[in-house]
Amino acid sequence: MPQTSIYIAWDKKKEACLKIPLNMATNIYYLLPNFGFLLLAALMIFTQHSSCNHVGVSEDGYLETLVESSGSEDPLPYSTRNYGINHDFGDDEWKMVGKKGKQFIVNDQPFYVNGFNTYWLMVLAADQSTRGKVTELFQQASSVGLTVCRTWAFNDGQWRALQKSPSVYDEEVFKALDFVVSEAKKHKIRLILPLVNNWDAYGGKAQYVKWGKDAGLNLTSNDDFFSNPTLKSYYKAHVKTVLTRVNTLTNVSYKDDPTIFAWELMNEPRCESDPSGNKLQAWIQEMAVYVKSIDPNHLLEIGVEGFYGPSKPDRVQFNPNTYAQQVGTDFIRNHQALGVDFASVHIYADSWISQSISDAHIQFVKSWMQAHIEDAETLGMPVVFGEFGVSAKDGGYNSSFRDTFISTVYKTVLDSTRKGGSGSGTFVWQLFPEGTDYMDDGYAIVLSRSPSTSNIISLQSTRLMIFNSLCSWNCRWSCRKKNALHHFLFPDE
Ligand SMILES: *[C@@H]1O[C@H](CO)[C@@H](O)[C@H](O)[C@H]1NC(C)=O
Ligand SMILES: *[C@@H]1O[C@H](CO)[C@@H](O)[C@H](O)[C@H]1NC(C)=O
Ligand SMILES: *[C@@H]1O[C@H](CO)[C@@H](O)[C@H](O)[C@H]1NC(C)=O
Repeated sequence: MPQTSIYIAWDKKKEACLKIPLNMATNIYYLLPNFGFLLLAALMIFTQHSSCNHVGVSEDGYLETLVESSGSEDPLPYSTRNYGINHDFGDDEWKMVGKKGKQFIVNDQPFYVNGFNTYWLMVLAADQSTRGKVTELFQQASSVGLTVCRTWAFNDGQWRALQKSPSVYDEEVFKALDFVVSEAKKHKIRLILPLVNNWDAYGGKAQYVKWGKDAGLNLTSNDDFFSNPTLKSYYKAHVKTVLTRVNTLTNVSYKDDPTIFAWELMNEPRCESDPSGNKLQAWIQEMAVYVKSIDPNHLLEIGVEGFYGPSKPDRVQFNPNTYAQQVGTDFIRNHQALGVDFASVHIYADSWISQSISDAHIQFVKSWMQAHIEDAETLGMPVVFGEFGVSAKDGGYNSSFRDTFISTVYKTVLDSTRKGGSGSGTFVWQLFPEGTDYMDDGYAIVLSRSPSTSNIISLQSTRLMIFNSLCSWNCRWSCRKKNALHHFLFPDE
């Protein structure tokens, strides 16, 4: 079995002053908040008596954590890494995620997210023959240190529908969602649950409009979803049903379950019929307050792609194309709505700029992310990149480009994280368990078949984990002002 170690190098020559076996490092993390800080304090004393003068800061200002695998040709390098996940963790440690300013927190400790999407877990769980795949996926995800999954809490009027018609639910499918939630908890993975789709897949706003027409309403556009009082009441009823659902496997109601990281109002809302953005804004305002009236404890986000709109003409230059400002969304204004806790943005250079891969894609990723991180700082909230990916169907695609793309996203968010900025998490689109290729939309990542991608994901998890640990330590010892750790965390001060 390969030995995996973390080196923390803290001088400019990148000499490793300290080598911690990964298991030990992760134990430090998971022992927090009990006495992990003592171990870290011991490490600090050690470093003060060594020749090192900066903690974990490399030339370019990074926490330099190198994950090195000795032992060769492991086709599943990630699977042998032990992230110290203790499946018997007590409920005391499994607390609701909250936020403090620009950071997510759990138990008053910062919580930076390395996350993933697999949107169809409920459908997978609804069929006994594929239910085991849900468990398999969570196992694989946790073995590379992923901690939050984004997956649909809706399927309206379609095959294996959760909501067969307004307020009529398939109990078997609801139990499948219960299973997804309870399995996630077992693997120490939290969930972002979107409540409806903008697009037709799994029903979406088009299905709500169809239901409205079936009920005799005079509806002319799918965007009536955002304004028609009856359709709004259908949506609210769905929200209430999901949030107040009592999980049949755990007996915990969804609205009280810390396994749920956040609710999302809608996957990628657009309202082309009103480019001013007013119609969508009114819907966001009404629904955000409604969600909070039922569940004031969970965090809430909208689910927009992040396009800039009419309220900030100086920001539209960051949009991927001129059409983006005409789809009725308005990133900054949308996130000023009462009840919205954090910002979320998607990144699809391939479908927004061009379907053939070029350097422009990487440039776009950087400037798009940096612009939204700046805005989130002005808004005073965390921002997550809720979807990002690249399709194998794109012209010029190869897996090394995908790795470059993912690394760019990770590095850009980390640039913000290490400064205590708003950059708080990323969710790759999307992870697949083995044997589900029939669902592949071109973006599938099967970890066991992509060792290099697995390593990149794993490294990001390790960085965030160590960062969280160091940061937690710092929070406990904030009285010791200009120590090396403080210097690392706030290099600009
Ligand atoms: C349906 O609504 C449209 C647009 O609001 C209106 O022009 C039309 O007359 C209405 N039709 C009926 C049958 O009420
Ligand atoms: C849930 O509640 C039922 C009925 O009260 C009980 O039989 C069952 O053991 C409970 N399950 C859990 C996991 O607590
Ligand atoms: C992979 O694709 C990128 C972008 O199209 C290209 O620059 C690179 O040379 C390709 N690498 C390989 C190994 O084919």
